[in-house]
Amino acid sequence: MNKATATAPGKIILFGEHAVVYGRPAIAVPVARVQASATLQPATTGFRIIAPDLGRDYLLAQAGPDDPLAVTVQITLARLNIPTPPAATLRVSSTIPLGRGLGSGAAISTAIVRALARYLERPLASAEVSALVYEAEKLYHGTPSGIDNTVVAFEQPVFFVKGEPIRRMRVARPFTVVVGDTGVAASTRQVVGQVRQRWQVEPERYEGYFDEIGAIASQARVIIEQGAPDTLALGKLMRENQEMLRVIGVSSPQLERLIEAALQAGAVGAKLSGAGWGGNMIALVPAQSQVIANVAEALSAAGAAGVIVTEVR
Ligand code: PMV
Repeated sequence: MNKATATAPGKIILFGEHAVVYGRPAIAVPVARVQASATLQPATTGFRIIAPDLGRDYLLAQAGPDDPLAVTVQITLARLNIPTPPAATLRVSSTIPLGRGLGSGAAISTAIVRALARYLERPLASAEVSALVYEAEKLYHGTPSGIDNTVVAFEQPVFFVKGEPIRRMRVARPFTVVVGDTGVAASTRQVVGQVRQRWQVEPERYEGYFDEIGAIASQARVIIEQGAPDTLALGKLMRENQEMLRVIGVSSPQLERLIEAALQAGAVGAKLSGAGWGGNMIALVPAQSQVIANVAEALSAAGAAGVIVTEVR
């Protein structure tokens, strides 16, 4: 066997998080500025997993039953009908902050599935990679919609509806998004669980909220695919989406602080991205470099732990 490497990008959800768990559409795009990477090399004995960013170095045979890296390896080997793991060393690294809604889990899993399939000379199509990563995602999320694995495995903007075939989006006019990290790690499983509890108590009210969020995502799709002459209409939808996320209880004081700072500095819209209660917010900025710089600076001044500027294309 020859050494094999694969990478996978981070992602942001532009519109529709949470409602997507309940069958409404959402829009997500890859963020290539941050990446997960996996490399496999032949070894003399055993299957060893080394993940320096996670402070981990262990044998697959000794991994716990819900170790996400080991589970990803096992489900990939099962899919490829390989009963015994090869003698190899898997090295995993990532520049995607963990637990901040940037899809770190999905990206790490995607890189592992692809590297392993390449190493075993059994390359998998993106749809198959996505399906395997979805299985691993269940460990992080409990009830994932499937949006993270889809956008990360296909590495393209997607208009995602749970259970439906992937719909890639054509971005008519590229636009710039500034991503601000609250520095607060939040558990997607917990936030999604909390929303589910509220939905169970007041199903009609929450179905209504999810309908509104879904309608916002559908309107955003039209604007993105047709190419608005400016970013104002998209920014307005972002602000409306954030208002709904506030109403369903997934924003946080830190997120609000960064969102407010971005809007003050010239962003046309801003919202949390991902599960909420922490993690990242995104701000839509007009193409002028000065506004982009102002928003990035304002986010840092308001306490952002990290700022990424990404172009959606
Ligand atoms: O993993 P995150 O933080 O990007 O959250 C995923 C988005 C949710 O809609 C909240 C959950 C899901 O499974 O779609």
